[in-house]
Amino acid sequence: MELDQSYPAISDLAARARRRVPHFVWEFLDSGTGSGAAMRRSRDKLAEVLFNPAVLAGEVEADLSTRFLGRDYPLPFGIAPVGMSGLIWPDAERTLARLGRDQGIPYSLSTVAAQTPETVAPHLGPEAWFQLYPPRDPEIRKDLLARFRDAGFTTLVLTADVPTASRRERQNRGGMATPPKLSPRILAQIAARPAWALGTLRQGTPRLRTIEKYTGDRGALSSTKHIGYLIRTSPDWHYLRWLRQHWDGPMMVKGVLVPGDAVRMRDEGVDAVWISNHGGRQFDAAPAPIEVLPEIRAAVGPDYPLAFDGGVRGGLDILRALALGADFVMLGRAFHYGLAAFGARGAAHVVHILREDMQSNLGQMGLAGFDGLAGRLRGRK
Ligand SMILES: Cc1cc2nc3c(=O)[nH]c(=O)nc-3n(C[C@H](O)[C@H](O)[C@H](O)COP(=O)(O)O)c2cc1C
Repeated sequence: MELDQSYPAISDLAARARRRVPHFVWEFLDSGTGSGAAMRRSRDKLAEVLFNPAVLAGEVEADLSTRFLGRDYPLPFGIAPVGMSGLIWPDAERTLARLGRDQGIPYSLSTVAAQTPETVAPHLGPEAWFQLYPPRDPEIRKDLLARFRDAGFTTLVLTADVPTASRRERQNRGGMATPPKLSPRILAQIAARPAWALGTLRQGTPRLRTIEKYTGDRGALSSTKHIGYLIRTSPDWHYLRWLRQHWDGPMMVKGVLVPGDAVRMRDEGVDAVWISNHGGRQFDAAPAPIEVLPEIRAAVGPDYPLAFDGGVRGGLDILRALALGADFVMLGRAFHYGLAAFGARGAAHVVHILREDMQSNLGQMGLAGFDGLAGRLRGRK
């Protein structure tokens, strides 16, 4: 791939993305909450995971395929849900859904995306996950589940790590609002990014289209308080049981960092737990997902499916998570950096980078697949 020469790393795509989107959009995508400590910690702790290299291991070509929740995937990673994805780059949701379909990897659509399950449906592959922010009203809940099921989504993901809205200081300072408030400052930022501005003009102002149905009119959604009332209820174990009863496909809970919670979810019939600190966007004192992964793996046992995300910026990070007990790895920002840098081609380049990086690093360890990874961890048994 020709992009490999000038943009060999996801950080190269991020640098270009920053120059192509308005400042407030960049701040929305790139920031964490508080001082950004949780976001940094996720990356730092990944980098601390070391492997023993292998010498004289002969030639190896690794098999990168895996199985997760009863399905076969050609690669062990997928696209995490990102709210207002279409604000970050015009038509992001449908572009990433097609990427998922073409690569055979899962695409997750957020409840607070800029597209609806219905408008994304024609672009979905068989691996489509639906991320639910839990509505208070049981009728809205039922309706959302039915809409996603009818649109072809197979797997339900309940995000549980947003019990209260996070303050997201850097994002607020940047001027982010939903929908964007067209103040002179924001307009100046938009005018400086013509490709984004034209694309956004063509797609229409990014809005929370999925939940508009329940607010009656678009104007109501300009009030964050109203959205909060509608979907930001703090679910509890009772709510989880309700969902389990009303969704007969695979179901995951996202945002788990405590071993006891994961065990209880397993026992409640949740099919997989998704270890995540929401990309460091919710709670600045949250541990790095990679720190808690081994504890959670030990608590739930060797066979219970675990997904993982947080700070993954290369194939080596994916190998680190798999080595410490994850079965599947998700990425949020990386795909959006690629998209904002080069559109669909940039998002596909992210897949290429991750694949090549995994091949190369497995080769350094003399491994033909993921099975031997744990055995090559340095400083752990
Ligand atoms: C801009 C942005 C918006 C996000 N919106 C959602 C969301 O709507 N629902 C959700 O469950 N997670 C959301 N997340 C969290 C991601 O699903 C994922 O957990 C996180 O991005 C992983 O970290 P990474 O960006 O370092 O890969 C969002 C993340 C970002 C960066």
